[in-house]
Amino acid sequence: MAEPGVGRPPGVELLAVDHEWARFGEVLDLSYAELYCPFGVVRDAEWYHPAHGSEFAVALDERGRIVGTARLLPGAGDPERQVRQVVVAPAARGLGVGRLLMQALEGTARTEGAVELWLHARESAIGFYERLGYACEGDRFVSPLTGIPHRTMRKRLG
Ligand SMILES: CC(C)(COP(=O)(O)OP(=O)(O)OC[C@H]1O[C@@H](n2cnc3c(N)ncnc32)[C@H](O)[C@@H]1OP(=O)(O)O)[C@@H](O)C(=O)NCCC(=O)NCCS
Repeated sequence: MAEPGVGRPPGVELLAVDHEWARFGEVLDLSYAELYCPFGVVRDAEWYHPAHGSEFAVALDERGRIVGTARLLPGAGDPERQVRQVVVAPAARGLGVGRLLMQALEGTARTEGAVELWLHARESAIGFYERLGYACEGDRFVSPLTGIPHRTMRKRLG
């Protein structure tokens, strides 16, 4: 079941892709530009981890520009799956794109047998995940990569 809330933002198309997608480099560009570059992480550092086996939800605007992405780590058949690198381009925030990306990954995970999703949320994004039904667990910790505080969050898939 989809979350209650906004429908699809006007003009937004959602794709399910993997690292072989022809425009995958643009997905990485958005993730790096918004999630890592501002914190001084260099592009060739361990910011990305191997893409092989991960599944990506990608949002395109009406002009075909990539305006958001979220990544489901490999693990088809696993009861728990991890989400990483959820990002919406600044100009497209607040329109429901992030919710759409998370709903897409939740649907994929559920189809592949998962019953729970978990992630490491930046403190600034905790409210976003709470709106989608995720709850914090454990202590606050600082990412060794970006130096910013995070919490682990988890959601039981319905
Ligand atoms: C966090 C992020 C992905 C949210 O994407 P978005 O498209 O702006 O979010 P949505 O418009 O789908 O918002 C869904 C709901 O969450 C709320 N929300 C969004 N961002 C929020 C935030 N930072 N804090 C609290 N609530 C937030 C929205 O108001 C909306 O609430 P509603 O249920 O009343 O409609 C986006 O702001 C972003 O890319 N931030 C920078 C990168 C980042 O921090 N990513 C997360 C890494 S862990």
